Amino acid sequence: MIKRIFSGIQPTGNLHLGNYLGAITNWVAMQHDMPSIFCIVDLHAITVAQDPVALRAGTRDMAAALIACGIDTDKAILFHQSAVREHTELAWILNCTARMGWLNRMTQFKDKAGKDKEGASVGLFTYPVLQAADVLAYKATHVPVGDDQKQHLELMRDIAQKFNTDFGRQIFPLPEPIIPKTAGRIMSLRDGSAKMSKSDASDMSRINLTDDADSIVAKIRKAKTDAEALPDNAADLKNRPEAENLVVIYACLNKISVDAVLAEWAGQGFGAFKAKLAERLVETLAPITSELVKLQADIPHIDAVLAKGADAARAIVAPVLAEVRSVVGFL
Ligand code: TYM
Repeated sequence: MIKRIFSGIQPTGNLHLGNYLGAITNWVAMQHDMPSIFCIVDLHAITVAQDPVALRAGTRDMAAALIACGIDTDKAILFHQSAVREHTELAWILNCTARMGWLNRMTQFKDKAGKDKEGASVGLFTYPVLQAADVLAYKATHVPVGDDQKQHLELMRDIAQKFNTDFGRQIFPLPEPIIPKTAGRIMSLRDGSAKMSKSDASDMSRINLTDDADSIVAKIRKAKTDAEALPDNAADLKNRPEAENLVVIYACLNKISVDAVLAEWAGQGFGAFKAKLAERLVETLAPITSELVKLQADIPHIDAVLAKGADAARAIVAPVLAEVRSVVGFL
């Protein structure tokens, strides 16, 4: 079986530090080890209402942001999902493999639909099946994601397994999630029990990759912590989620372990620690932001990159879909 990476990201708004540390840094690192495909999932975005002009702009901005973060489009394939129709075709076929009971257990639907389940789109309900189709259409074997995608990855494996069993052929490999140990779940700066997210109403809850130095410093200074000093061991962070989150971010930015951060900072207060953390964040994000601004100014270049990516993606999925169609029994 050929090893292949596939992962996706929604085009809504900008990248935040959770996306960056939870997923994108792994994409950038892994693209050198295995053939990689990265997809901007505009079909997933429309499961909730979108303004068409903002969706188009958001798709281009996301492409620019990923390239600015280090996705090398000479090596990896970068494209937007709606450009490759096989995603929707396979999603339909897999809708007939996935079971209602499996989808009923998906926590993301419950979170996103909230109290108005009856008013949610059918697309939002079958969202994870489209996600399975994304990965399986490429017979991808590795899926680098943050911890919040774990349940969707388990479902994807169940769908692949059932399809293979139903048709008595090993068509799809069972994709492995690649979730970073330390940065699997970056939390909100305002509430250590909520993940950092682009849908949080408060911009103070997240660091956006486009934030300038002043707002990064202000957001970290105002980030919620507690009155105690930093402990000397990771176990003592367990009931201090906001403190733990800042330590995790610091560890990831410096590419060191949580224990190494605590060895350096044990006994000190959060004032000095936050100043150092903000400094590291600015150092890390400033070059990305300046590259992003340059790329955003060149829309024809971004469109050309996405078109090239879509061509390369189509070449991979076409034979897979031909195989699936034949196995299912389409004439
Ligand atoms: P999305 O757009 O919500 O997030 C993109 C990636 O960022 C990760 N992530 C986080 N990681 C750590 N801490 C956080 N606070 C945090 N917030 C986001 C996500 O886990 C994800 O890896 N359904 C997917 C997109 C998708 C996809 C796919 C992913 C569509 N098809 C196929 C993998 C494979 C999503 O909405 O990601």
